[in-house]
Amino acid sequence: MGTDFRYNTGATRVPWAAVGENYNAHDLMEIIAFLMQGEGKEYDDAINAVWEQVKKLDKVSTPPGKLSLGSKVEAAEKACGEYLGTDTATFVTNATAGFEIAYKYANLKAGDEVIVPAITFVATMAYPLAIGCKLVFADVDPKTINMDPADVARKITDKTKMIVPVHIGGYPVDLDPIMELAKKHNILVLEDAAHAFGAMYKGRKVGTIGDFAAFSMHEVKNITSFGEGGIVTTNVPGFGPEMKRARFLGLDFTCPIKDWLYNITPIQGKEKPFVAGNYSTTEIQGLGLKLQVERNEEIIETRRKAAEYLTNRFAANDAIIPQDLGNENIKPTFHLYLLQIDPAKAGGDVQVLKKKLEEKGVTQIAHFGPLYRFKVVQDMGYDSDEIAKSCPNCEEVFYKRFTHLPLYGLSDEQLEYMADAVLESVAEMQAGK
Ligand SMILES: Cc1ncc(COP(=O)(O)O)c(C=O)c1O
Repeated sequence: MGTDFRYNTGATRVPWAAVGENYNAHDLMEIIAFLMQGEGKEYDDAINAVWEQVKKLDKVSTPPGKLSLGSKVEAAEKACGEYLGTDTATFVTNATAGFEIAYKYANLKAGDEVIVPAITFVATMAYPLAIGCKLVFADVDPKTINMDPADVARKITDKTKMIVPVHIGGYPVDLDPIMELAKKHNILVLEDAAHAFGAMYKGRKVGTIGDFAAFSMHEVKNITSFGEGGIVTTNVPGFGPEMKRARFLGLDFTCPIKDWLYNITPIQGKEKPFVAGNYSTTEIQGLGLKLQVERNEEIIETRRKAAEYLTNRFAANDAIIPQDLGNENIKPTFHLYLLQIDPAKAGGDVQVLKKKLEEKGVTQIAHFGPLYRFKVVQDMGYDSDEIAKSCPNCEEVFYKRFTHLPLYGLSDEQLEYMADAVLESVAEMQAGK
């Protein structure tokens, strides 16, 4: 039986139980039925047969005795670290929590500037926005809709403290010029690798190149840890072990206070120490994550094949700008398929295409909008229209050119139908229909 690591009494006659109420066979059965749903006679027969066996476990099994931050979390971190090529992988509640650790390390304060791409999810900027930093929105590269390094260079000032490239849809950002700029100006780079677990940039795994990175294992990502989770990594020398403490309130067993088990020591940040938060993850999440990490390459390959199929089909019409499939240096995770059109050649913009696809029953969602258009940003004193003027590519691609298509969990027929629907819709637009 495991014990709470804070009170590790070892094998004793009267142990200190780590967890409160244990799960029983009935609970387990509910969990199985939740994860593997179904209906009809065949399903009912199968699930009833499972229940007949599972209920026997009540009498013959013992509970794990540890449900949070134990050996399963460690095993998941080891698997992720080996896969990525880092010994700092730390499993946290979500990518947003991982970003917070990096932001706290940087000692961000009100007035500091943080450069984020104009197109990403709000999670990228939530912490700096909350504490009154000035967010600076870099325009996007119209080909990838990722942060454009040339615009980052234009927007760096002596107040810039961090640059946050986001590998949108799992397509690697061109990191070399960004790392070079960061080095020159002593700026920290935090990779938002939420979509990019397994992507490669010039022979290295994305998420191991910046000073910090965080991956998301939220339910919609390529792999998940039961719906929520994140892996945070660092290249800051010596910060790997600190990251583990930054995840759980700064508990420090190396220098306990007098007559007590541990100390609480601050985490050493770039400029000054900071107080840790609590972003702990559970054993069951650790188990789920390790299982899925082990099949990540197969998942990427399945997605890659679907993307390749769509890109090949879309070559038939030069008004369609298909997803770039990468090359020796750039290997995406194909989290999303970036579909773009050239409005001049297509005879209309992507809003027309989106409507046509919806009418044909094809779900497509432009997953990310211009951050500076959100009310939360405006209410913090930002002028959306002024910012828009400094992000012309973002305005053009978002309103006129791109949407995202799904790549996973589709049958061959669905994939084919989706490709046909895109081709037919663009042909209709070209014919003025
Ligand atoms: C680009 C991007 N960054 C960050 C996140 C946040 O990830 P998490 O939900 O794990 O905090 C997401 C999640 O959707 C995302 O799409």
